Amino acid sequence: MKLYILNGPNLGRLGTRQPEIYGAMTFAELEQACKVEAEKFGFDAEFKQTDDEATLIKWLHEAADAAAPVIMNPAAFTHYSYAVRDAAAQLTAPFIEVHLSNPAAREEFRQHSVTAPVSIGVVAGFGLNSYLLAISAMREYLNNVKR
Ligand code: DQA
Repeated sequence: MKLYILNGPNLGRLGTRQPEIYGAMTFAELEQACKVEAEKFGFDAEFKQTDDEATLIKWLHEAADAAAPVIMNPAAFTHYSYAVRDAAAQLTAPFIEVHLSNPAAREEFRQHSVTAPVSIGVVAGFGLNSYLLAISAMREYLNNVKR
């Protein structure tokens, strides 16, 4: 089963971008770790990043049409993009929001997510593990495992 793992603006610069906040891991390393984990859980991951809102929306439309589940780090779009939220609201399979940092513990403008209300849940604050936890949570959610 296809799993879209979508990343918004500035995440392609992981490794050099504010390592004190986002860690030393590069974007390529994040991609590799997510693909391995996704495969372990029976997903074929489409791992993508864009700095462009229109491109992110186009991928969400694609995922909606394919009825594919989505894990997305909307990055700064999280906090203000009603267009990304409206696209995520059209998804036809579950959407989990992820963040490397914990936006709730940061600047005030990061403390509100306009996209989280259309997700089934949010994993934030665990760096790479936010993504890995989201992948296993997606599998359990799709298998309808309740604990
Ligand atoms: C982020 C948090 C956002 O506030 C920020 O704009 C990002 C990254 C995270 O993964 O911690 O670009 O989504």
